Amino acid sequence: MTDSAHPPRQPGRRLFLTRAAVAATAATVSSVGLASPLPKHSPVDEQTEPFWGKHQGGITTSMQRHSYFMSFDLITTNREELIALLRSWTEAAAAMTHGPAQMDTHPDPDKIPEDSGDTLGLSAARLTITFGFGPGLFEKDGKDRYGLAKHRPAALADLPRFTGDQLIAERTGGDLSVQACADDPQVAEHTIRRLVGLANGIAKIRWAQTGFAGSFKAGETPRNQMGFKDGTMNPSTKDAAAMKQFVWVGDEGPTWMRDGTYMVIRPIRIALEHWDRMKLGFQEQTFGRHKYSGAPIGTQHEFDPLDLDANDKDGNPLIPENSHARLSAPASNDGAQILRRAYAYDNGVTHIAERWPPWHQVTTFDAGLLFQCYQRDPRTGFTKIFEKMAKFDMLNQFTTHVGSALFACPPGAKPGEYIGQRLFA
Ligand code: HEM
Repeated sequence: MTDSAHPPRQPGRRLFLTRAAVAATAATVSSVGLASPLPKHSPVDEQTEPFWGKHQGGITTSMQRHSYFMSFDLITTNREELIALLRSWTEAAAAMTHGPAQMDTHPDPDKIPEDSGDTLGLSAARLTITFGFGPGLFEKDGKDRYGLAKHRPAALADLPRFTGDQLIAERTGGDLSVQACADDPQVAEHTIRRLVGLANGIAKIRWAQTGFAGSFKAGETPRNQMGFKDGTMNPSTKDAAAMKQFVWVGDEGPTWMRDGTYMVIRPIRIALEHWDRMKLGFQEQTFGRHKYSGAPIGTQHEFDPLDLDANDKDGNPLIPENSHARLSAPASNDGAQILRRAYAYDNGVTHIAERWPPWHQVTTFDAGLLFQCYQRDPRTGFTKIFEKMAKFDMLNQFTTHVGSALFACPPGAKPGEYIGQRLFA
């Protein structure tokens, strides 16, 4: 978290046992309420991002190189078990952001190790862990499983079906979400595994997606897989007024969500091979920007203003009517802005068989953008901006939204609290 105090050096010392661990140690009582020592974690180093604070980490934190996102379905119907999970996740997350577990100097061969140990010796790699609450936490299939239905924020309204959506159930939705971002992919993966272990018997995996970002020089806008600078017009995370206006929930939200935010996450498949066969000029028309400089078409520099009224010598708009830059610009959306924090993803290749002309069958990349954005209210953020883009954006020729989810990310927690605690007060 960017504006929080530094975390205490000592990580939380106690952690609830998972059901698996309970079973394995032949305990006959419920896991809820049992505690065992947490493995010692490395001391805080310069590769540490704070966990405790006003806001959760991983939102305005400068992007790490790797991300592991996971969405869960809750299987428990017991409110106390849900609270115990959030408490144990919070404690484990706080400890892991200090650095990976250290070697136990007196390992007990009769005990299941609490930590897989695969990150022993690594640094914290700027790990952040961001938790989210999906609509199913409040109500699922008409059932109010945890007595929370009355607390569902109006802003957590289901997203509409957008033109062109090809959502796959296995990459959509979820009751809870966790995203681990780190500069080391092994640290991110280890974090998620550990949290999955703690959820055993309470929540199960629904879908997951890893992502990566190139190691661009500090201060440079990273390029996406399509070769364009991506993030130029993002509101600055250092601009507290902009974050307050567009990202953090204020007095309009329920008390438990103040200083939290809403996340829209969508795996967007990109037809990379098709894109790579397009002429440079057409690529630039698609985005409305020059490829190499990132400048708006007709200008020289990346941060030159996007002049939507500028015309070429024939009187046609320099920034095409259906270009991505024009359709997504605040000026085209009554001033709406979102904070994008997207990662590229690459799941190798997949086989596609189309049943309609041209009866296309091909093995192709299963890759694209794990689009993520944070906003104060998705109805006036993502939905407002994307509704028109979904219909008219030239980029749609190359992209398919194959998954979608919406989560309320509660504010950060203080030491001793758990994430989302105010919701259960
Ligand atoms: C594969 C999908 C996408 C790619 C490759 C992509 C790429 C880009 C690029 C290269 C830019 C111009 C540079 C910049 O300002 O960052 C941009 C801007 C932007 N994109 Fe996307 N984008 C994608 C999907 C989306 C979606 C689904 C939204 C939904 C709302 C979106 C919203 C925006 C916004 C708000 C801007 C900034 C506009 C401005 O403030 O002037 N993008 N995107």
